[in-house]
Amino acid sequence: MRTTVGWQLDGSTATLQRTPLKRRDLRPDDLAVRVDYCGVCHTDLHVLGSHDGEGGPPLVPGHEFTGVVTETGSGVTRFSAGDPVAIGNIVDSCGECAMCRAGQENYCHAFPTLTYGGADRQDGTTTLGGYSREYVVRDRFAYPLPAGLDPAAAAPLLCAGITVWEPLRALGVGPGSRVAVAGLGGLGHLAVKMAVALGADTSVISRSPGKADDVRRLGAHALIVSTDPEQMAAARNRFDVVIDTISAPHDLGPYLRLVAMDGTLSHLGHLEPVTVEVMDLLVGRKKLSSAGSGGRPATAAMLAFCADKGITADIELLPSALVNEALDRLRRNDVRYRFVLDMSDLD
Ligand SMILES: NC(=O)c1ccc[n+]([C@@H]2O[C@H](COP(=O)([O-])OP(=O)(O)OC[C@H]3O[C@@H](n4cnc5c(N)ncnc54)[C@H](OP(=O)(O)O)[C@@H]3O)[C@@H](O)[C@H]2O)c1
Ligand SMILES: [Zn+2]
Ligand SMILES: [Zn+2]
Repeated sequence: MRTTVGWQLDGSTATLQRTPLKRRDLRPDDLAVRVDYCGVCHTDLHVLGSHDGEGGPPLVPGHEFTGVVTETGSGVTRFSAGDPVAIGNIVDSCGECAMCRAGQENYCHAFPTLTYGGADRQDGTTTLGGYSREYVVRDRFAYPLPAGLDPAAAAPLLCAGITVWEPLRALGVGPGSRVAVAGLGGLGHLAVKMAVALGADTSVISRSPGKADDVRRLGAHALIVSTDPEQMAAARNRFDVVIDTISAPHDLGPYLRLVAMDGTLSHLGHLEPVTVEVMDLLVGRKKLSSAGSGGRPATAAMLAFCADKGITADIELLPSALVNEALDRLRRNDVRYRFVLDMSDLD
């Protein structure tokens, strides 16, 4: 086994503690990656909150990171030591089912292996995430990081970015589309940048009127304050696509009412059961959809698009030793718009 160090949940203190970690020896199709920058996703908070404290499997969060290849397995041809790479929230899939064959590994019928908290398909061990200095990954699930993308600000593209990119593309967003993004956080601000770059007329639905300047800077045309009934009423039936990235349980009704005839609400945020009034779908033949992560071809396409358009996340870069503070601030919604941890302090 290889040894590294990372930030692991300590059940007794409910915080992440600097902990020595083991990584597997390289298989023929593996890469060893020095993790330089890892984004802090709201899903990390959800998982930490639901983890079974001291009794559960080891938990090292982190599923959007960039770094540099340090070593390659004997069969690897696509990467060499020194290559900058990016890794997201899935690190393996069955490779044989219809979804994998279609390049939708994120929907693998045997379920993809998650970057942390998943079970390795060969040895069954629990995967440990990117809040660490080294990650060992199957080469199919590492992506060359395009030159020109800042490696720290690009890290969030690998979860937040791809999660919103796939539905934007699948729903045909482009010039002439009217898109609204609900919840201006990590996912939301990248959804705005991507929708704008795809040519859509883009708006933001937020609880936070103080984000108005950011909304304009991100290229959106309007901010609809979700707590203002008049603004919500004025926006009824206006959007072909509403991308819902809200991280807390919420009623979908007010958002469905903003969807235009035959339009879609793509519910990407809080992934718990929801109750829907069928009348909110019936009136206007509206659609409710969801999506998660992205397949390998879409991830590569998203990175190429972002490199072409100069899209990265708006980040606050922190030494990884401040990980617990970053999580606390994310919990309090005190982030514009993504924390990224600089892992070099783990050396
Ligand atoms: N589908 C997937 O594969 C996938 C992938 C990654 C993340 N996620 C999920 O997506 C959600 C967003 O993640 P993120 O990292 O973007 O989180 P984030 O940065 O914390 O942003 C979430 C945003 O939701 C809004 N919000 C929070 N609490 C709210 C409430 N009680 N009512 C209304 N709005 C509220 C806030 O926006 P305003 O201040 O603008 O209102 C906040 O900025 C999380 O639940 C995460 O687990 C899903
Ligand atoms: Zn994530
Ligand atoms: Zn599969």
